[in-house]
Amino acid sequence: MQTSLKITNAKIFTRHAFFSGGLVIEDGVITKIGKEPKLPQADTTLNLNGQLVIPGIIDAHVHLRDFQLAYKETFLTGTKAAAMGGVTTVLDMPNTKPPTINAIRLQEKKQQAKDNIFTNVGFFSGLPESIDDIENLVREKTVGFKIYPHMPISSVDLNDDNVLLEFLKVVSSYNLPICIHPDTFKGDQKQISLLIDEKEQISDFLRTHDTQSEIESIKRFCKLSLVSKNKLHICHITTKQSLETIKEERGLNPHITCEVLPHHLLLSEDDIFKWKSWGKMLPPLRSQTEVDGLWEGLKNGEIDILASDHAPHSLVEKSKSFSEAPSGIPGVETLVPIMMTEVLNDRLSLDRFVMLTSERPAQIFNLGNTGKIEEGYIANLTIINTKIRKKINPDDFYSKAKFSPFKGHEIRAIPSMTIVNGQIVMQDKQIQESAKVGKIVP
Ligand code: DOR
Ligand code: ZN
Ligand code: ZN
Repeated sequence: MQTSLKITNAKIFTRHAFFSGGLVIEDGVITKIGKEPKLPQADTTLNLNGQLVIPGIIDAHVHLRDFQLAYKETFLTGTKAAAMGGVTTVLDMPNTKPPTINAIRLQEKKQQAKDNIFTNVGFFSGLPESIDDIENLVREKTVGFKIYPHMPISSVDLNDDNVLLEFLKVVSSYNLPICIHPDTFKGDQKQISLLIDEKEQISDFLRTHDTQSEIESIKRFCKLSLVSKNKLHICHITTKQSLETIKEERGLNPHITCEVLPHHLLLSEDDIFKWKSWGKMLPPLRSQTEVDGLWEGLKNGEIDILASDHAPHSLVEKSKSFSEAPSGIPGVETLVPIMMTEVLNDRLSLDRFVMLTSERPAQIFNLGNTGKIEEGYIANLTIINTKIRKKINPDDFYSKAKFSPFKGHEIRAIPSMTIVNGQIVMQDKQIQESAKVGKIVP
């Protein structure tokens, strides 16, 4: 049963500016934005005491795992972690076990997710074994197709441009984005695991996933998507030159978008040597020069979205030596605290933060009436307490992945409430356990 909810005394960020007042939500939709006493009555009224309300965060890069990887994360734990982190929609990646590469797998994911999700969830697919399956995946409402050139998840020969073009052209006919993990592994995995010294293992990892491999991969997919006329989304860029390349390529194909992650903005190469396995992810952390370049792009609008690449692994796995530990770190719970702290530190405007985390991802992935606080939009809202000071402690994570290279990182903001489809899912660090109100999007 849907009820109505009224929020009063809030600092609402709408249409690129602050509005002091409130709003009313009916049947999951924002029906009125205004000031008291003019707002209509509702079943429940919440006085926010001047707290900040922004459009619900959309994290467009999350690995929810589940199935054979349920020991790392499940739909339940991953979306609970998301809600704790002020995230209202996550887009799930297809490199699961089994991988999401055909309509049956996607149906299974939707079935498993149904009644188990605290936030909205959308699903990416990999390229299917058969080109005909693209249509079926589109019918099952995949949000886009993800390609891992360094780590294929289906038998499609990703080294063959002609084969790839056949697939890309069909995806393009449905106007869905192709997303790439820009990387080309240059080394020999067996040789790396023979290195005993951990520092050598780290150096080798950095060498085999260097900045050039990212740039080459971006150039290749930009050229391909120009021929196939695809919308191309480049995940987690980490270098200044990646951004330069994207700017040039946008002159030819305006439908290229790109993403950056908090750890590539706030940590650098030194942190891999400090955190070792806990600081191992792909793409790796880069030099401070690259970090500074990414900040420029973040501020000036060249970077389209900010996502977490929440990639949970077990603590046992991440306690192994650097070469044996899997790559990836959790992030869905720390994205908002870390980046809102940068907003409070005046390194990023709130307007840009909101564009990067709600309005643009909603546009790029065709998520419909979400990503803005406006009458008629779905009531996905993130409420933020900007009056705290604390340090990140992975022991407190709701994710199963209780580690982070951000351990001890000082934050000045935390989400105090998460509203998903008009329902309060998290309030004051408490999850409403019955509020599994997430929907499958779009
Ligand atoms: O570090 C990473 N971990 N990069 C990826 O691309 C995959 C991810 C994972 O699934 O763990
Ligand atoms: Zn990736
Ligand atoms: Zn990822």
